[in-house]
Amino acid sequence: MKAKKLIEVALPIKEISAESVRDKSIRHGHISTLHLWWARRPLPVCRAIVFASLVPDPLDENCPEAFNYAVEMLLNTGLGKLHYKPYKDIPYTSIVDEMEDNRRNRLMMFIGKFSETCQTNMKAGKSTSPKEQLDDWCLIKWENKNNPQILRIARELIFVAYQNDKRPDATWEQLHGEFNRLYDAIPKAEEQLYSIPNRHIETEQVKQAEASLQSAIEAFQNEMPSVFDPFAGGGAIPLEAARLGCRSYGNDINPVAHIIERGSAEFPQKYGKPIVYSKAEFEKKYGVEGIEIAQDSEKNVIFDGKTYKIPNRLAFDVEYYAKKMYNELENLSSYMYPSVNDSTPLVYNWAKVARCSNPTCNAEVPLLGQFYISKRRGTPKKDWVFLKPHIEGNKITFSIEHGEYQDEGWIGRANLKCPCCGNVTEAKLLKKQFLGYKDSRRLMYVVSENKGKRTYTIPDSNYLNALPQIDKTPVPQEPMPIEYTQALPSCTWGIEKWGQLFSTRQAYVINQIKDKVLSIKQDLDVNLEYNKAVITYLTFLLDRIIVRYTEFGVWHVLQETVEHPFGRQAIPMKFSYPEMNPFSELSGAYWGQLSAITAYINEEDSFASHFANSSSGEQEQFARKSMTSVVTDPPYYDAIAYADLSDFFYVWQKQILSDIFPEIFATPLSPKAEECTALKHRHQGNYDKAKKHFEDKLTEIFDAIELQTTDIVSVMFAHQSTEAWTTLCNSILDARMNITGSWPMDTEVSIALKADKAFLESSVTVACRPSERKGYADFGDVKHNIRQLVKHEVEKLYGLGFRGADLLTACFGQAVSVFGHYKLVETAEGEPVSVGQLLEFARESAAQALLEGVPGEPQTKFYCGWLQMNGMGECDFDDVNKYTRVGVNVEIRSLQSDKLLITEGSKQHLATAEEHVGSNPNWGTQPTDYMISQVHRMMLAYRGGNQELLYKLVRELCPQSDAPQWRVLDFLSGHLPEGKDLTDVRGLLSSAEMLRQKCKDAIVHKVGELQFED
Ligand SMILES: C[S@@+](CC[C@H](N)C(=O)[O-])C[C@H]1O[C@@H](n2cnc3c(N)ncnc32)[C@H](O)[C@@H]1O
Repeated sequence: MKAKKLIEVALPIKEISAESVRDKSIRHGHISTLHLWWARRPLPVCRAIVFASLVPDPLDENCPEAFNYAVEMLLNTGLGKLHYKPYKDIPYTSIVDEMEDNRRNRLMMFIGKFSETCQTNMKAGKSTSPKEQLDDWCLIKWENKNNPQILRIARELIFVAYQNDKRPDATWEQLHGEFNRLYDAIPKAEEQLYSIPNRHIETEQVKQAEASLQSAIEAFQNEMPSVFDPFAGGGAIPLEAARLGCRSYGNDINPVAHIIERGSAEFPQKYGKPIVYSKAEFEKKYGVEGIEIAQDSEKNVIFDGKTYKIPNRLAFDVEYYAKKMYNELENLSSYMYPSVNDSTPLVYNWAKVARCSNPTCNAEVPLLGQFYISKRRGTPKKDWVFLKPHIEGNKITFSIEHGEYQDEGWIGRANLKCPCCGNVTEAKLLKKQFLGYKDSRRLMYVVSENKGKRTYTIPDSNYLNALPQIDKTPVPQEPMPIEYTQALPSCTWGIEKWGQLFSTRQAYVINQIKDKVLSIKQDLDVNLEYNKAVITYLTFLLDRIIVRYTEFGVWHVLQETVEHPFGRQAIPMKFSYPEMNPFSELSGAYWGQLSAITAYINEEDSFASHFANSSSGEQEQFARKSMTSVVTDPPYYDAIAYADLSDFFYVWQKQILSDIFPEIFATPLSPKAEECTALKHRHQGNYDKAKKHFEDKLTEIFDAIELQTTDIVSVMFAHQSTEAWTTLCNSILDARMNITGSWPMDTEVSIALKADKAFLESSVTVACRPSERKGYADFGDVKHNIRQLVKHEVEKLYGLGFRGADLLTACFGQAVSVFGHYKLVETAEGEPVSVGQLLEFARESAAQALLEGVPGEPQTKFYCGWLQMNGMGECDFDDVNKYTRVGVNVEIRSLQSDKLLITEGSKQHLATAEEHVGSNPNWGTQPTDYMISQVHRMMLAYRGGNQELLYKLVRELCPQSDAPQWRVLDFLSGHLPEGKDLTDVRGLLSSAEMLRQKCKDAIVHKVGELQFED
């Protein structure tokens, strides 16, 4: 029998969460800055999951001796002895608990360990800057992505584990020797190839050196496990699998994703390597433009009089061709964006114009949602800049002023409130105008730069006359999915073709840049894979510009930047938009976009992944049982319409790339029918059909995965609804696998609208294995097992700080693992039990386990218990009466007078927070008040943005993470229906750690007055 894998037994989830949350804010050289893709997984969680899916648990009795030895030698000798020593006192729990110094824990510390500073801070209740949270020696830290020492350890551990699976008797000495020989052959072969001068010319010597390097890489990687991600998206998982030295494979049905994957996890690793040119060859190839780049000290090119040594050939070439394009576009730049009074325009801010529907007014109103031009962070309010409207009859003019401006915008919820007569033109009337004359827009103001200083101008007629009139230019004519109003509400405003997202001016400039890429493509031999890579990045450059260069972009007044429209995985309707000057120094313009691409190419240096084609996941790509492991992140039901959104890029990409990647760009738009999502607009508006499609597809894909894989299948899933989980678990069970491990991790940061605070969201990773389901079981027995397991899990995760819905869904894995042992589970009446029923039961068990922790005060227990059984709906007096006598010991009259139960005629319902404590501001503020009143008070303080009161309540009532108020909130989060109360509960839980932290950081300046450090 083989040992369990680490992921089935233990994972440092707190540490992975900390670094994953940090990962979302890393920009320079990060995969997310190469090209937009939706729902990218953070790199630390991907790296940790791949690693833990491949190595055995060292404490398992079947763990091979050689692997144990490897852990001992690599993590418990030399510097590793100190660095991977388990915590003396687990810092993030309230229990002073020494972690045993054993091999499993050392492996965990190798994956992720809190730094000494962070441990000390945690114990003192202080926060640590994200960068310093993890120890410098652990695998998942961002800074270690190319650390040769740490990657070598990870790769050797994986090598030993994999070899031991094949050859259980191989000893550590034997495997260590083999690893060193195979692994060290690679840098030697690299050195030989990369030192050949002018290796871009295919001489015999170059061909031989290339072949030697290739065979050194293959010789090593053939002895490493293979990892496959069938839903690879932007490529984060294959990137990390390759970083760990594995044979890494990815597939995604979507052509845009496929191209991004290759740009992320194949091309930089294959071609982003050093090259040496002789002076003559360099100058012949690159001319003056190349020499200029070489002289830029940031590019680290070494010129010794005879040779140019370039650290990264691919990054250099992309920069060179982009520069060449830019130089050729200079005339276009001055033509389209003429300087006025030595000021270079950076952004033209336009507003669409509509007519007031009041026939006596008929004003032409620019559709402005607000009037600020700049409220830069850190700028005093008196220096903020805004557009001040001046109304005379039905004429509207503007001036630029400084300071605060509180007036409401003229367009809200797509209704126009006329500033001249006050009439409201409703959205449906406004739409008619848009469908009638589309091109009505007004240039509101121009942001320019003069000697580093920003100026803001309202264009006069001279200014406007100087702008060239572009009447016509070709734009993509492919249709948008107009019935997909959830993500593309813009379509109901007459935008029906992808090309209509751009003004004629924008489309004209985009076409010019695109033509330059095409002409470079013509000059290069695109039969060479290397040149395909170069053209791919120039296409990415165009994509990066296009996405910030539409009529749907956003002018970010706090930063003065132009943002793309996909903030919420949708293209919402926009009535005003920034048109940036792509040739200016603005950070979102040409040079900024290029540097994001070259930074990524320069930063990524590991093994290349393989992306054969883009096909639907149920089509088997590999021979039966030829993959070692699958690590993947499937779509989340109807959360994101990848194919629809990606067409934004597809229609432009295919104009450049279709002849060099013909098999990828074969269809007019990205393929939709086979996409594994539940989108009703693809099923004649029928959600049931859409769901069935998703469920069938996911099952087919998991089936194919199981057939191709020998070992662990790890699945990341961020959806919290029981319905989505039911589908996922059904697919796993139907594919003859069972869940053997389940881990919640914080992997997302979303920005709360209120108070600008970041919220954490979790995803759960389940590890699955092929498993035979045997025999029949009685639901009663299964329930008993599940209740025990779930209770244990709830306590454990609660102790680790997981809360709310995350905590409840994290228990699903445990429940399914019991269920999945049996062919059939039956109720006492002989009815088969479905996965849906099982998960409902698991959720209930988790909630009950949480309720057990609600302290014995009857009013709060009544509230939670009643909510659990009956929700917030109406109920009869008799039912409540029975429950209060049997379930909890409390008088119904007192519940009514305490306003916990609201009576309306003969009906009762549970009070909302507002109904309960809203009428008396003192209720719930005292430690002696009912806990439910305190919790409701916190919810109202949160809702009203009353930070001061909130901090005071947390500080005085529940400063510790195990205070019962948090338990009540958790309970509510699992039971309240959608609505204001639930939103507040979620918000409070997501910011719980921050709130408690703030209370600890608080400085008491005067008695009774709290102040907080920002
Ligand atoms: C949650 S995303 C993966 C994100 C990825 N882990 C990342 O970090 O970028 C799911 C992916 O599944 C892809 N997909 C949807 N249906 C598919 C199918 N039938 N076969 C293969 N891939 C599919 C989508 O295009 C999407 O990129």
